[in-house]
Amino acid sequence: MSEQPRASFGGKLSAILVAAGSAIGLGSIWRFPYMAGENGGAAFLLVYLICVFVVGIPVMLGEFAVGRATKKNAVGGYRSLSRSWQWLGYSGVLCALLISGYYYIVAGWSLEYMVSSFGGLYTSKVTFSEQFAQFQISPRQAIYTVIFILLTHLIIIRGVVKGIEKASKVMMPALLVILIIMAVRVAFMPGAGEGYLFFLKPDFREAFSAETIFKAVGQAFFSLSVGMGCMVTYASYFKQNNNLTGTSMSVALLTLMVAVLAGLVIFPAVFSAGLEPAEGASLIFITLPEIFKDMPLAQVWSAAFFLLLTLASLTSTISFHEVLTAYFAEEYNLSRKWATRLTSALSVVLCMVSLLWVFDINFAGIKVENISCFDIFDYLSANILMPLGGLLTCIFVAWWMKQKFLRDEITNYGKMKGRAFPLLWFTLRYVTPLLIVYIFVRNLGLM
Ligand code: PHE
Repeated sequence: MSEQPRASFGGKLSAILVAAGSAIGLGSIWRFPYMAGENGGAAFLLVYLICVFVVGIPVMLGEFAVGRATKKNAVGGYRSLSRSWQWLGYSGVLCALLISGYYYIVAGWSLEYMVSSFGGLYTSKVTFSEQFAQFQISPRQAIYTVIFILLTHLIIIRGVVKGIEKASKVMMPALLVILIIMAVRVAFMPGAGEGYLFFLKPDFREAFSAETIFKAVGQAFFSLSVGMGCMVTYASYFKQNNNLTGTSMSVALLTLMVAVLAGLVIFPAVFSAGLEPAEGASLIFITLPEIFKDMPLAQVWSAAFFLLLTLASLTSTISFHEVLTAYFAEEYNLSRKWATRLTSALSVVLCMVSLLWVFDINFAGIKVENISCFDIFDYLSANILMPLGGLLTCIFVAWWMKQKFLRDEITNYGKMKGRAFPLLWFTLRYVTPLLIVYIFVRNLGLM
C-alpha cells in the first residue's frame, strides 16, 4: 500500500486531528447543552457518557475499517465490500444532506455573534434573548448562513489534505483553553452551585426514561459524526499504519471533554442569570453573553470564543460537505471542483428551505404547531438516520463480513496486537445493536 493515487492525511496525529475536527463542533458546544437542558441535565449526561463508549466508539471503529479498507466514499466503500449494502452509504449521503440543511444556519449564528461582539451585542439596551429573537427574523441570518457555506466551499476546493488538516490543527487546543478559562470564570458567578447540581447530580428515574435515552443516543451519534458515512469517508484518507483503535478513543475522549466543559460553562451561568435550562436551540446564544458581559474586556473574550466556535464548526461542516463532495465526484465522475459546487449549491437551497418554511402538522392524530424544517432535519438526522445507520453498520461489520475483515483493519494486518479486539467484536456483534434496537422499541412505546 505504498502508493495510492488518492490523497491521504499526513500521519497519526493528523488522523486524530481531522477526525476530532469533524466530531467537535456545534454538536458538543451548542447541541449538547441544549439537549441536556431539555432532558434532565445530569441524567442526560450519564446516559450520553455510556452511549459514547458502548455505541459511539465501536461504530466509529466499524466505519474506520470500511473506509480505510476500501479507500472510497461512503457509497462506493460499502458497495465494493458488498453490492447489497451500498444503500447504507446512500443513507449516509441523505443524512449529510439533512445536516447540511440546518447546521450551516447555527454556524452562521456563531459568525454573527463573533461580529456583533464588537457591534451592538454588549451595548444594546435590549436583553440578550430579545436580541437573539430579533436576529432570527432579520435577513442577516440568511446572509451569514450563505457566508458559512462559502467559507466551507473555499476550504474544500483547496483539496483534502491542505484544507482539512490545517484548519483542524489550529483551533482545537485554543478551543479547549478558552473553555477552561470560562469554566473557571463561571464558578465565581453568584448562584452557580445550582447549575452544577443540575448538570452533575443525576436523578436516576429520569435517566432511564425512554425519552432521555433516545435523545442521548442521538446526541452521541451526532457529536461523534458516526452512523452516516462521515468516518468512512475520512478513514478512506487514513494511512495504512494508523492505529484505528487509538484514533477512535482519542476522538471520543476529546469530544467528550469539550461537551462536558461546555456543560460546566453553560449550566452554572444559566442558573446564575436566572434563565431556563430548557430554553431550546437558543440556549448558548443567550447564556454565553451573560458570562462575558461582566468580564474585563468582555467584547474581546466574546469575539475570541465565537471565533473559535466558528472554526470548530468549520472543521465539522467541511466533513459532511466532504461526504457529499466525495460521493458526487467518485460516483458520477465529476471533477472535484464541480462536485464541490454542486454540494454547496444544494446546501444553500436546503438552508433557505429551513429558514423560510414553518408549518403545522395535523396528521393521523399527531398535532404539532409551528414546526420548521430546521427541527425536522435535525430530528431525522440525529435521532433516526444516524442511530439506524449505526445499527446497520454493526450488522454489516460484525455479522455480514467475516471476522478477519475487522481484525485485519484493527491490527493493521497483524502488525499490532489488537488486545481489545475480542471486546470490540463482542460489543459490535451483540451489545451495540441490541441496545440500539431496545432504545428504538422503547421509544415507540412498545416496551
Ligand atoms: N459531529 C459534528 C458536531 O458535533 C456534527 C457532524 C455530524 C459532522 C455528522 C459530520 C457528520 O458538530
